[in-house]
Amino acid sequence: AYLEHTFIVLCLTDYECPDKPVFHPSRLVVRRDDPADATCLCKSPCDGESSHLEVSLGQTFKQENGTKLLWKVDKMTRWETSPICFYDHEDLKQCCSRLAVTVYQPPDLVSINYLNHTGPLTEGHVYTLQCTVENVAPVGSLSVMFYRGQEALGPSQSRNNSEKKPVTEIFTLNIKPTGEDQEGHYWCEAKLELGPEGPQIPPVEKSQNLTATVHCESHNETNTPQTFETSYNLELNCTAVGNPSPSYAWTLPPANPLLFNASILTINSIAFEDEGKYTCFASNKLGNLTVVFDVDVKSKFNLLSHLQMDEKLKEKAT
Ligand SMILES: *[C@@H]1O[C@H](CO)[C@@H](O)[C@H](O)[C@H]1NC(C)=O
Ligand SMILES: *[C@@H]1O[C@H](CO)[C@@H](O)[C@H](O)[C@H]1NC(C)=O
Ligand SMILES: *[C@@H]1O[C@H](CO)[C@@H](O)[C@H](O)[C@H]1NC(C)=O
Ligand SMILES: *[C@@H]1O[C@H](CO)[C@@H](O)[C@H](O)[C@H]1NC(C)=O
Ligand SMILES: *[C@@H]1O[C@H](CO)[C@@H](O)[C@H](O)[C@H]1NC(C)=O
Ligand SMILES: *[C@@H]1O[C@H](CO)[C@@H](O)[C@H](O)[C@H]1NC(C)=O
Ligand SMILES: *[C@@H]1O[C@H](CO)[C@@H](O)[C@H](O)[C@H]1NC(C)=O
Ligand SMILES: *[C@@H]1O[C@H](CO)[C@@H](O)[C@H](O)[C@H]1NC(C)=O
Repeated sequence: AYLEHTFIVLCLTDYECPDKPVFHPSRLVVRRDDPADATCLCKSPCDGESSHLEVSLGQTFKQENGTKLLWKVDKMTRWETSPICFYDHEDLKQCCSRLAVTVYQPPDLVSINYLNHTGPLTEGHVYTLQCTVENVAPVGSLSVMFYRGQEALGPSQSRNNSEKKPVTEIFTLNIKPTGEDQEGHYWCEAKLELGPEGPQIPPVEKSQNLTATVHCESHNETNTPQTFETSYNLELNCTAVGNPSPSYAWTLPPANPLLFNASILTINSIAFEDEGKYTCFASNKLGNLTVVFDVDVKSKFNLLSHLQMDEKLKEKAT
């Protein structure tokens, strides 16, 4: 017998072989604790006496005078194993092939939370979502996707980790919630992408739902003063975007005692006493918005007299 590492060296420093042994399948993907098997076919120069299958687990069988070697494992109990099939060729040289074996284990648990944050979010601020994937192997085949409701937000940055044993990894994504869609939930999904030799339906594990309540930052808007002529039909629009729909309250100039609770305030035929500051207060349980309209009123008559003066000047000139 040879030491396993001797084979590794031999297999790595492989020289031109007339006929390399071939594994079927060429790559093996097996779930931890499941059974597995593979066959090595040895071609023409490989006679029964000099061909071997070197394994660290399971059993081997020779068939067809040693040109066919079987490897069988009842229970895959290792994370890393790599059978080598070889035959002696010319003096002390050997021809060999190595079977790539991927042993996988779906994660025990996938969970999502905010990094250093609890409670509602505020629009426009940056938060970090973290998706914790526990005890998964091999982590290099793992892809993690973040979602908000049904919308995919994007994958987490991929990892360059060749660890074969199960590990727990945290994946992150930065988010900047907007004032729209104020209620929803975030979640993440961990998928093992094991290639065509892997299971037809890749192992997928979803996290719990993480509530995403987005508060709007309270803000005040002050519009520049606007001048309107008397008898103009004034319309002030304070419509705010929000879910749930905001409710509205207005405070009006002292001379105007009307109570308004709609988003658009209309005053037909504006008069001097309507001049002043109109403050609209829009709110829902998630945010507050204050909008100030500064209304100046000037006489339509001034304008007319101005025109009349123009007419008079024209008359003089002619
Ligand atoms: C095995 O080898 C013997 C002797 O060399 C030969 O007679 C026999 O046909 C071979 N069997 C197979 C399955 O190749
Ligand atoms: C999160 O909080 C921990 C402990 O309070 C702190 O050590 C760490 O730097 C914080 N991380 C970030 C990204 O703010
Ligand atoms: C992964 O890491 C290895 C060694 O640390 C490095 O050689 C390789 O270039 C890295 N690959 C990627 C895609 O970052
Ligand atoms: C998360 O919420 C969605 C939609 O409300 C629901 O379909 C899904 O089952 C929930 N997931 C979990 C893990 O509760
Ligand atoms: C908005 O205005 C109200 C009343 O005028 C004031 O109490 C509040 O602090 C202001 N908020 C901001 C964000 O400026
Ligand atoms: C009021 O403003 C909102 C938002 O800017 C706009 O969608 C709506 O059409 C406006 N309504 C009127 C009557 O101008
Ligand atoms: C607005 O005021 C009217 C009359 O005062 C009232 O019937 C209505 O319920 C109020 N609407 C809201 C949303 O407060
Ligand atoms: C909105 O304003 C009210 C009264 O000023 C306050 O109690 C409430 O907490 C504010 N809501 C938000 C979401 O900022």
